[in-house]
Amino acid sequence: MVAVIVISPEGAETRIAAAEGVSLMQAAVGAGLAGIVGECGGNAICCTCHVYVNDAWLARLPPMDENEDELLEGTASDRTPASRLSCQIKLTADLDGLTVTLPPRQY
Ligand code: FES
Repeated sequence: MVAVIVISPEGAETRIAAAEGVSLMQAAVGAGLAGIVGECGGNAICCTCHVYVNDAWLARLPPMDENEDELLEGTASDRTPASRLSCQIKLTADLDGLTVTLPPRQY
């Protein structure tokens, strides 16, 4: 299992555990976590799975592709250099302890 720490916009921490191979969005939705919607089911078309990745983890993620980069221009909350779409982050053992913060809104 891969542990992920999700911090709400207000600073509350939630720890979730997910199987390797699922996306961060799937793990969050599966855990009933509010704040990540995943409306398109992970098909990289809705932008409702936006997260801010903790600085310590940002460089450890695979680089985003062009499609994710374009979609992030349409997020409801401001895009920052830490922005990623959680449906495009596949959880692997290397990401155990991954920490992300939720944006204030997804719509
Ligand atoms: S779930 Fe729709 S873009 Fe990630």
